Amino acid sequence: MTSQMNAAVVTSFAEPPHYQQFDIPAPSGGAVLVDVLAAGLHPRVRSGASGAHYTSSGTLPMIPGIDGVGRRPDGRLVYFAADDDALGTMADKAVADPRRSVELPEGADVARVAAAMNPAMSSWVALRRRVQLQPGQSVLVLGATGNAGAMAVQVARRLGAGRVTGAGRDQGRLQALIAAGADDVVQLTDDAQATGQALAAAAAEADIVLDYLWGRPAQQAIMALLTARSDRGRALDWIQIGSVAGPSIELPSVALRSANFRLQGSGQGSVTPRAYVAELPSLVAEISAGTIAVRPRVVPLADVERAWAGEEPPGERTVLVP
Ligand SMILES: NC(=O)c1ccc[n+]([C@@H]2O[C@H](COP(=O)([O-])OP(=O)(O)OC[C@H]3O[C@@H](n4cnc5c(N)ncnc54)[C@H](OP(=O)(O)O)[C@@H]3O)[C@@H](O)[C@H]2O)c1
Repeated sequence: MTSQMNAAVVTSFAEPPHYQQFDIPAPSGGAVLVDVLAAGLHPRVRSGASGAHYTSSGTLPMIPGIDGVGRRPDGRLVYFAADDDALGTMADKAVADPRRSVELPEGADVARVAAAMNPAMSSWVALRRRVQLQPGQSVLVLGATGNAGAMAVQVARRLGAGRVTGAGRDQGRLQALIAAGADDVVQLTDDAQATGQALAAAAAEADIVLDYLWGRPAQQAIMALLTARSDRGRALDWIQIGSVAGPSIELPSVALRSANFRLQGSGQGSVTPRAYVAELPSLVAEISAGTIAVRPRVVPLADVERAWAGEEPPGERTVLVP
């Protein structure tokens, strides 16, 4: 048997991965070597491959890819999350630990699963593990025009939200959210005052905010919502999930004193690996049932360099297939 495989390989954090040969990894401790069928090119994969993610070990060379769908040696089809940041899933073969895998039904659409699990997991876990969404509660998704945000609208609805508002920049994608289950949408523009008023009108009574943006839009939205709230003693749970608009905010202390404002994050570290894994089967079921819309863009792994550099059409998620 050959000891090498084809893989996307990062040799410098300043360059995209190159398609080249790499040693086949050796599984240990109950893990198995799977044939990779599909791996999603999520924003988290890009930040890991540039050495910028907060979990990055800095090891080079590395194979990017944090999750994927693979075929085990016993023939079973699994979705799995990689647990070594230097030996990821964008290769012919990858190591899958059964404790971080979930079996998929034979015939599952592997590209859909690979595209959807990471973005869908962000809201699914936030609403089940960081706050427990109560039936009928009101949810605002800040940054609802990306893959994860659009799925968050559908996940919130599926988990019983009474009212869901989606806020984002792109007008076309906002309109699509109405069809996907949002009650209302708010366009985020450069006019901070008008945006604040629109957010307050639509979502001042929100119980939970799922925040994919952070940065200036989140900073402005926090104060706009809190000051417009009819009962500031009623809890507002703000769940920080993504930071596409900036890594930090300035938060006036009064935000935390003058209202029952509860700020926390949801991601690797704030949610245990065990809790993530426990949520995998139910999320797979939702994706397989089609409750969460997903548009995979399948690209051969051999074209990884081009996929890395290219613009992804909005609403699609690139999936690399060996
Ligand atoms: N913590 C977790 O568990 C977790 C899991 C998955 C993803 N995430 C994070 O969530 C974020 C979104 O992921 P994704 O998969 O949805 O990515 P994506 O599909 O690439 O979407 C990103 C969206 O962000 C919007 N955007 C970019 N800059 C913006 C700005 N300054 N103001 C408002 N909107 C802006 C864009 O929408 P427009 O077209 O409207 O500009 C874009 O569609 C990333 O930061 C990702 O790392 C976190």
